[in-house]
Amino acid sequence: MSTQITLPSLFHLSSEHEVAASVPELRACIEAEDVAMVRGLVPESAARSVMDRVHAGFSASDDTKVDHKCRVSDPRLIPNYQRLMLGEFGDSETQRSFFVRMMYSPLWNEDRWGMHASFRKLIALRNHLYGVESDFCLDGPHGTTYTLSRLHHYPSGGGFLNSHRDEVAAGVPAAAGLHGYIQVLLVLTEKGTDFHSGGGYFVRDGERVHYEDFTRPGDILIYNGRTLHGVSTVDPDAPTDLTSSAGRYSATVTLYRTR
Ligand SMILES: [Fe+2]
Repeated sequence: MSTQITLPSLFHLSSEHEVAASVPELRACIEAEDVAMVRGLVPESAARSVMDRVHAGFSASDDTKVDHKCRVSDPRLIPNYQRLMLGEFGDSETQRSFFVRMMYSPLWNEDRWGMHASFRKLIALRNHLYGVESDFCLDGPHGTTYTLSRLHHYPSGGGFLNSHRDEVAAGVPAAAGLHGYIQVLLVLTEKGTDFHSGGGYFVRDGERVHYEDFTRPGDILIYNGRTLHGVSTVDPDAPTDLTSSAGRYSATVTLYRTR
């Protein structure tokens, strides 16, 4: 018998104004439940049109192993780039392992995937939750702190991310003088259509809750530094094709710092 899953609390918010008015409730929910969901801020049609552009414009020949964001001290020098990440890392136990393609898309560059408007909404939501000006790290960096706006592509045929808490990124808000840690994640694909098994999850009561079982493209998941999360292997029985854009996608606007 399968355990009854308690779905995360869902907030219907269609504008930044409504987000601002709901901040106390959202914060209380994230504090109590570690996860909350927002629907209506990014329309499903916007998410779907991003995916159309990705599938039309994707090229595996754009893949690089160079992590440009670690090579510059001025965040404005970070280009649009696409990084294929496949590996396992750790000093003793595994700390991180993944098969994912990151498509970095800083807001000061060309809007390659038509994501900028949605990134701006995610940033405003993030900033309201942090209690900072709604344009913090919006149009550009604040010193060395910046928004690493990006798409995550977990390819069909093996894309995954081990379970973890966002410990590295969680240090950035404190360093930037912000309280706590908040991650906002935009769901871009639909389970059952774009991919068929696996996908994003958080752990609640010791069980993986695969949120794409109940989200729609355009839904936003909010979690904190305590939330154990990852991506279960996407379509493990499908062929692994590095030249294909097929798979599961999400987007985030994490605060980062250059070194
Ligand atoms: Fe994470």
